[in-house]
Amino acid sequence: MFEKYFDAVVLARRHLTDRIVEFTIGAADGGALPMAEAGSHVELRFGGETGRFLRHYSVVGPLLPTAREPFWRIAVQREDRARGSAHLHANVRRGTRLRISRPIGAFRLGRNLPHVLLVAGGIGITPILPMLRSLVTRRQSCSMVYAGTSRQAMAYVEEARAIGGERVRIHESDRDGLPDLDAVLAGQPVGTVAYVCGPAPMIDALREAARVRGWDPCRVRYEVFNAAHHPGDGDFDVRLRTGETVHVGAGTTILDALEAAGVDTLSDCRRGECGLCVTDVLDPHDGIDHRDSYLTAGERTASTQLALCCSRAAGRLIDLDIHLDRNGK
Ligand code: FES
Repeated sequence: MFEKYFDAVVLARRHLTDRIVEFTIGAADGGALPMAEAGSHVELRFGGETGRFLRHYSVVGPLLPTAREPFWRIAVQREDRARGSAHLHANVRRGTRLRISRPIGAFRLGRNLPHVLLVAGGIGITPILPMLRSLVTRRQSCSMVYAGTSRQAMAYVEEARAIGGERVRIHESDRDGLPDLDAVLAGQPVGTVAYVCGPAPMIDALREAARVRGWDPCRVRYEVFNAAHHPGDGDFDVRLRTGETVHVGAGTTILDALEAAGVDTLSDCRRGECGLCVTDVLDPHDGIDHRDSYLTAGERTASTQLALCCSRAAGRLIDLDIHLDRNGK
């Protein structure tokens, strides 16, 4: 049986923008990396012997269609209060060892679609760029909108243009305002399926525009970038049913903190999408900052459940229906 994590080493790093650094990563033993599909992400454990940070990053490439990968690239945007990205920017250099997971394919491109519309917002380009490469390689009909504040702040603009040519439209919101997503959808061929990755408000706007146009919801497939971490997040305590408290720092998630404390939990996507980590809340105290896209609006309002992988306590304490010594939930 394969181990989930293996040892990797940073082969190179380079600045893509002021806030985005690209790391090229290879297997520590020099061997080939596992196959990764366009849209896959990996979990990175870093920060000392204990690997106190766990973060997810999309595999940017090269994603060769035929060979096992000699290296992967990931791109990390520094968030001012997100300690994981700040730690990577400050400490990870060529030669740094990391623990990295096998690729996780939670955001998969469908096959044989009439037309694919790719929409990337900011650092959301990271899963979208390999999708563009895959679609162009397969001669699949596609187009792409890549929105960011300004070209200087956007990673991989030239690479996207080189791969997709005229199919790629760059939108700079500092100059042109927010992209008109309804107009984008209006120009799509019948049966188009959209893949979107970026900030939650952009994804919500695209889904709403598609709903108003009568698109079947399954025609908009999305991955929320960085659902778990917002600038300005504070720390808080989780109190378990068995009485122990586990501290959740500003730069980590409840799920990561529980795992570090030795609590066995169920999880899969770790992005608030699959619902596997959803747990009963015994007392929300000052409320819950829901960040998943799994619970319904009614379930959120009830404040009786939360997704451990991304949602947070609104105040300094939350009581969850979890035992310290159990296996699974
Ligand atoms: S692990 Fe999928 S919603 Fe939390």
